[in-house]
Amino acid sequence: MSDSTGTNFQSLPQLPTGENMEKVKSMVDSMLLDDAAVQKMMSVLESEMKKGMSKDESIRKTSSCQMENTYVTQLLDGTEEGDYLALDLGGTNFRVLLVKFRQGKAESISRNYNLTKEQLHGPCEGVFDHLARSIGKFLQEENITNRLPLGFTFSFPMTQNALNCGVLVTWTKSFKCPDGVGQDAVKMLEDAIAKIGGINVDIVAVLNDTTGTLAAGSYLDHQCEIGMILGTGSNAAYMEYLTHMEKWEGPIDSPKQQVAIDIEWGAFGDNGSLDWLKTDYDIEVDLHSNHVHSFTFEKLFSGMYIGEIVRLCLLHLQKDGLIFKGGVSDKFSNRWIFTASHVSVIEEDNLKGTSEKLDGVLKELDMQNMVSESDKDVIKYTCAVVSLRAAQIIGAATAVLLNHISKPEVTVAIDGSLYKYHPKLHDLLMGVISKLSPSTKCKLILAEDGSGRGAGFVAAVATRLQKQH
Ligand code: BGC
Repeated sequence: MSDSTGTNFQSLPQLPTGENMEKVKSMVDSMLLDDAAVQKMMSVLESEMKKGMSKDESIRKTSSCQMENTYVTQLLDGTEEGDYLALDLGGTNFRVLLVKFRQGKAESISRNYNLTKEQLHGPCEGVFDHLARSIGKFLQEENITNRLPLGFTFSFPMTQNALNCGVLVTWTKSFKCPDGVGQDAVKMLEDAIAKIGGINVDIVAVLNDTTGTLAAGSYLDHQCEIGMILGTGSNAAYMEYLTHMEKWEGPIDSPKQQVAIDIEWGAFGDNGSLDWLKTDYDIEVDLHSNHVHSFTFEKLFSGMYIGEIVRLCLLHLQKDGLIFKGGVSDKFSNRWIFTASHVSVIEEDNLKGTSEKLDGVLKELDMQNMVSESDKDVIKYTCAVVSLRAAQIIGAATAVLLNHISKPEVTVAIDGSLYKYHPKLHDLLMGVISKLSPSTKCKLILAEDGSGRGAGFVAAVATRLQKQH
C-alpha cells in the first residue's frame, strides 16, 4: 500500500515470519483503507455535508449528516465575567461544573454524578431527575446561593430552533431510554428542576459536546475553528459562514457572519453511503450494538466500539486456526469485554517494544495461560492496525473540514478519552491530515474538559449577548 494519504505504515509493529503470519497479516491489513477508499470517503463526506446544508428539504433528507444550526454565532471575546454553571451529559460520566470568569481568564471546578445502568435504559424522567438532584447537591456542596446562568451540554443529536431549545432526535452510545425522542432537553430539565424546587438557575444554552469543545478550543487558541469529540462516540462542529449555510433562515448582515454547525458525523453513512467501506467486523459490531443500523461512522472507530472490532478480528483469526490454539477464555468470549482502554495500553507496548501492558490485559481477561508469544504479537499488531484505520478515517474527515474552511492555519480542539489516552493517535492523525489537507497548517490540541467547560463558556457568551441587546 502507498502512503500518499499520509498513513504511517511504519507505525505497525513487526509480526514473526512464517506462512500463518503471512495469512494473519493479509487478513488484518485488509481492514485498512487504500488511497482510492480514502479519497472516496472524503468526497462522500463532502457531498453529504453540502446536502445537509441545502435549502431544499427533499435534498436535506437524503443526507446522513444533520449539519445542525447550533445558534452559537459567537465565541468568547475576552470580556466575559462572572460565574456560570455547566452540565455535561452524554459520555460515560455526568458532570456538573462551576466556571468562573475573572478578567478574561476562566477557572473551573467539577464533580461527577454518574448515572446507573438502570437510569441509562429506563424512562428518561429518571435521567433528568438525577440531573436536577445532582445540580442541587453541587450547589449545596459548593455553597452557591445566587442565581446562575447555566449551559447544558447534551451530547446527542438535537434539532434546535433557539440556543436554549434542543429537541432530541435519538439517543446514542450507552443511552437507551424508551422515551425522550421528540422532546426538548431544556424543558425536560426545567421540569425536573421545578419538581425539586429551590434550585436557582437559568438555562440559557443547550449545546452539543462538539460545540462546547469548539468554544473551549477558541479560549485556548484563537485559530480554533473545529471542535471534535473522539471519545465514547464521535462528532465534530465547525464555524461556518452563513452564506454557505443555504438552509439558514435568519438575516445575514455581513458575509463574515458565522455560526457553529454540529455536523453529527456519528451518523454519517446511515443512508448507505459508506456501506462499501464496512468490514464484516463493522457489520457485526453494529448488529450487536445498542442502536442497530445507525451511527455507522462512529462505530468504525470510536471508543465504545474500537475494542470490539479488535476482539472480533482476533476471534476470526482463531476460527481460521491461525492464533489462540489453546482456545479463548469465557471472559474473552463476551462481547464488548475488550475496550478502547485495552487498545490504548497495548499501543503503549507497541511504542516501547514491550508486552508489559498486554500481559496485564491478558490476566484481566483470564487469557494469560492461553496465549503463545506469537499470539501476543498478533494481538499487538491488530490493535495497531485498527488504530491506524481509525486515524485514516478520522484524519480524512478532518481534512474534508479543513479543505472546506480553506484557511492557512486552523486549530482543531479535541476532547474525549480515545484521543486523550491513545498514545499514538495524535501523531497518526497529523500524518494523514498534513497529506490530505496540504494547504492548511493544522494544529490538533487537547481541549481537556472542553465538553463541560465549553457549556459554561457558551453560557457566558449568551449572557454577554443578552446584555448587549
Ligand atoms: C452523538 C453526538 C455527540 C457524539 C460525541 C454521538 O453519538 O450523536 O451528538 O457529539 O456522540 O459525544
